[in-house]
Amino acid sequence: MNTQPTLPAIDAGRLPELVRALPKAELHMHIEGSLEPELIFALAQRNKVQIPYADVESLRRAYAFTDLQSFLDIYYAGASVLLTEQDFYDMAWAYLERAKADNVVHTEMFFDPQTHTARGVPMRTVIDGLHRACTDAGAQLGVSAVLILCFLRHLSEEDAFATLEQALPHRDKFIGVGLDSSEVGHPPEKFARVFARCRELGLHLVAHAGEEGPPAYVWSALDVLKVERIDHGVQSSKDPALMKRLAEQRVPLTVCPLSNLKLCVFPDLAAHNIRSLLDAGLVATINSDDPAYFGGYMNENWVQTFAATSLTAAHAWQLAANSFEASFIDAPARRAYMEQLQATFERFAAAA
Ligand code: ADE
Ligand code: ZN
Repeated sequence: MNTQPTLPAIDAGRLPELVRALPKAELHMHIEGSLEPELIFALAQRNKVQIPYADVESLRRAYAFTDLQSFLDIYYAGASVLLTEQDFYDMAWAYLERAKADNVVHTEMFFDPQTHTARGVPMRTVIDGLHRACTDAGAQLGVSAVLILCFLRHLSEEDAFATLEQALPHRDKFIGVGLDSSEVGHPPEKFARVFARCRELGLHLVAHAGEEGPPAYVWSALDVLKVERIDHGVQSSKDPALMKRLAEQRVPLTVCPLSNLKLCVFPDLAAHNIRSLLDAGLVATINSDDPAYFGGYMNENWVQTFAATSLTAAHAWQLAANSFEASFIDAPARRAYMEQLQATFERFAAAA
């Protein structure tokens, strides 16, 4: 647990500059959700794939979502332009350059292999392209990047098992598994056996729960799937006993404010519960989810959320510290990032 040190005073007017400058880990982003319309069109042309939009502007105009499903329909259509190893590399590299610009020092990127294997793209093509970008990011950008394979929960457990089998020859290229896609009607229990198998294999376990679905889904992600982190989890605030459990066991929530706004989980950003999650002692973090679709990458999520919810400099330190506590890095790396965080904070205050 990161106990907050005595922090230097920082004027509220300098908060946007502070949060941009802080080193942070991003723990909830879908790499397919970083495909910008320009890259979708470039890849469609390169691969001679038809997409049902005339140009970049008309595609962007379609990004008016009413709920999770209305987004997923467009998100899967966008991903259909990805065919070659180089396509997966180019997509991941574009995100990693943006992560670097936002002072993301470590990122754990989700990918959805079933979206690609169902179209005949081999698992190797997907994983090799993404992993090559992760390796290059470490060497060329100084950004540490790892992969988490997500199972699509609207598909069957049998399909998830088949996907795991296809991925296991590449076991050294991903660190864990997650669960995403349409939540309501697809509770975590549906994937109990495949998660048990992944646990035996020593993979890290996470799952989307409590994005649109009820607190009961967060309970079963914890108790049935035995996940180490909850992705989103914002509906947990409806259940005091669950809040107590999450705080006491320090189960991190990877919260995505702009995603919640765009998918109408909260009516506006000022109504978001991130501040109350933090003030209740939960290990909440801020992340971008699908930045190309939701209006912003990491720093945009932080800056807009701070502006709308009157978070303070102390919250900024806590959120960055939480991101390192919640990440699947080893203890020496965590210590080094925490020192970097402290040094950045102090340098920033001294430069007032
Ligand atoms: N896949 C991509 N983004 C997602 C989200 N916000 N929730 C569930 N599945 C997703
Ligand atoms: Zn997500």
